[in-house]
Amino acid sequence: MLNRDTMVTGTILKGLPPRIGIPRMTRNGFWVRVRLHPGQTPAQFIAVADAFAHAWRVHQVRVTSPRRGVVELKAIGYDPLTGDRAWPTPPAPRLLTATLGRTDDDATWTVDLRKVPHWLVTGATQSGKSTLLASWLTELGSQPVILVGIDLKGGMELGLYERRLSALAVDRAGAIKVLTTVLSEVMERMADCRTAGVRSVWDLPEMTRPDPVVIIVDEVAELLLVASLNGRKEATECATLLLRIAQLGAALGVHLILAAQRFGSDLGPGATAIRAQMGGRVCHRVNDEQTAVMTLGDLAPDAVAVAQTITEDEKGVAVTAVEGQWRRVRSRWTTPSALRNHADLTNLPLTDAFLTPPQEGGVEHD
Ligand SMILES: Nc1ncnc2c1ncn2[C@@H]1O[C@H](COP(=O)(O)OP(=O)(O)OP(=O)(O)O)[C@@H](O)[C@H]1O
Ligand SMILES: [Mg+2]
Repeated sequence: MLNRDTMVTGTILKGLPPRIGIPRMTRNGFWVRVRLHPGQTPAQFIAVADAFAHAWRVHQVRVTSPRRGVVELKAIGYDPLTGDRAWPTPPAPRLLTATLGRTDDDATWTVDLRKVPHWLVTGATQSGKSTLLASWLTELGSQPVILVGIDLKGGMELGLYERRLSALAVDRAGAIKVLTTVLSEVMERMADCRTAGVRSVWDLPEMTRPDPVVIIVDEVAELLLVASLNGRKEATECATLLLRIAQLGAALGVHLILAAQRFGSDLGPGATAIRAQMGGRVCHRVNDEQTAVMTLGDLAPDAVAVAQTITEDEKGVAVTAVEGQWRRVRSRWTTPSALRNHADLTNLPLTDAFLTPPQEGGVEHD
C-alpha cells in the first residue's frame, strides 16, 4: 500500500540533455566536448558510442574522458585504415622511436621504446605480424641501435635483414646462446650504472652511454613450447632468459619485441609472467579468443571484442593497447627489397663489448 514512506525508484521520463560544446572539424570527421551532469559517467557514453555512429552516419565514434566531468566524442567519418591513402607525415626521428603505420584517426602510429620498452605482437597466420616487424626493423635500422633477431621459422623472415642484425638465431639452441649473451650484457650495464651511481643508462653521460639493444623474436611460442623432455629444459631456459631480460632490460636500454601466432597460458607459467612485462601490445586478426584476451584483456578489456572484428581482408590492421588506452592501427607495408636496400645502407657500428656473433645454431653476421 502506498503511503508517505513509500519510495519509488525508476528512470526519469524527461532526460537531461547533454551539455554539448561546439563541434570542431578534424581531418576525417569532427569532435565535440560534453560536460557531464551530476550522476553521469563516461561509461554511459561508451555504451552508446555505436548508436552515436549510426545517428551521425559516421564510421566510428570514440569516447574519451580527458578530465573529470568531461567527455569527448570523436566522430571518424571513414576508416583511414582501408584503401591506399597517402601516409601522414612522420614526426622527426628520435632514438628508439619508430613510425610503424597509421592510426584510425589518420595520424601516424609511432612507438617509442623508451616510453614502452617491451612489446608483444600477436595475430593469426597471414595477419601481418612479420610485416609489422619488418617495418619496425626498417625504422630502427637507421638508428644507432643494436638489433638482435631470433627467427624460429628457420630465419625466413628476419633473414632478410641479416646484414643489419648483430646476431640472428634460427633455432632454440641458438636463441639460448644469443639471449645468454644479451643477459650478460644487461648485467654489465647494471654494474656500470651502479658504479656511476645512476638508475638507468639514460642517466649516464652521452659519451659513455651504451647503444640500446632491441631483440626481435618472430614466433616466440616456438621458444616456449614443450615437445619433449629435452625440449622442456630448453623451453624453461628460454622463458627464464626472456623474463630476466624483460625485468632488468628496460632501464638498461635492452628491449624486447615478441611476435606470436598464438599466445596462451598453455605455453607454461613463463608465458604469463613474460606477458606481464610487455607493456605494449599489438593484436592482429586472431583465430582464437584466448589469444585476443591474452594480448589485450588485462590492459584494455573493451579492445578484445574490437580485435575480434578484424577480417581476413584487413591485413596489417591491429588493435594496440598501452596502459588501458587502445586504438586501431595499420602497419606500413614494407617490401623485402626495401629492407635489403636499407640493410646495405645501415651497417651501423656496434658497441665493443657486444656482440660475439652466435655460434652453431645462429647465422653469422659479416
Ligand atoms: N600493413 C599491410 N598492408 C598491406 N598488406 C599487408 C600488410 N601487412 C601484411 N600484409 C599482407 O599480408 C601478408 C601476410 O603478412 P605477414 O607475412 O606479415 O603475416 P604473418 O602474420 O607474419 O603471417 P605468419 O604467421 O604466417 O608468418 C603479406 O604478404 C602482405 O601481403
Ligand atoms: Mg610471419
